[in-house]
Amino acid sequence: MHFRISLLWIIYYIITMNNIPPVLRPAPPDADILPVVAARWSSRAFDSSLPVAFELMNKLFEAARWAPSAANNQPWRFLAFGPENPDALEKARSSLAGGNAWALAAPRLLFILTRTDRPGSDKVNPRAMYEAGMAAVQMALQATGEGLVFHQMAGFSEETVRKEFDVPENFAIITAAAVGWPGSVDTVPENRRNLETDIRERRSLSELVFTNGEVPAE
Ligand SMILES: Cc1cc2nc3c(=O)[nH]c(=O)nc-3n(C[C@H](O)[C@H](O)[C@H](O)COP(=O)(O)O)c2cc1C
Repeated sequence: MHFRISLLWIIYYIITMNNIPPVLRPAPPDADILPVVAARWSSRAFDSSLPVAFELMNKLFEAARWAPSAANNQPWRFLAFGPENPDALEKARSSLAGGNAWALAAPRLLFILTRTDRPGSDKVNPRAMYEAGMAAVQMALQATGEGLVFHQMAGFSEETVRKEFDVPENFAIITAAAVGWPGSVDTVPENRRNLETDIRERRSLSELVFTNGEVPAE
């Protein structure tokens, strides 16, 4: 396992040294985890000239479909936009916040929704967001395995998406996701370019895991 993670690091350094887009920007080698989990990251650099086949998108949706949920409730839904319907794609793109303009280069844009009420009852599903998040991460990992960039965004107007596509009120529109093939770092707006190459950081396990009855202070 260590060997494979280290190999990912070597590939990463070779790629970045040559200034080719860092397709793989794995977590450091001390993260002894599945390579696909280590390799997933949120690039903003897309090759806008390379289409992503709908069949490939279906693999992402298929991965999401197999996520777990309480009572197998499966509240996740996906709005998928791409070149098959340029008008709808344009409307979908119009909802993006200015800070996410880099996502306009992605050939595909998704919205991850969740049904907030329980089917056949007026009760809310308190885990609806959580469950959709599980589906989203499965999709992100499948995308990583396929070599795709999968970048989720909260920076979009939920109101615009709801209005443009008549999304019913019992569906929350949680995140957008830009999907495409990795592109040159030069396509990323200058003020976001450092995010393509900065070392990825996370809180330490000691800040996250509490044993012996301790509880988080923050
Ligand atoms: C729910 C959610 C919302 C996010 N919103 C944005 C966003 O609007 N714009 C953006 O550039 N990145 C966004 N991101 C990406 C995060 O910044 C990124 O996941 C985080 O910095 C960790 O980096 P990594 O995904 O490369 O590991 C979002 C990620 C998630 C999961």
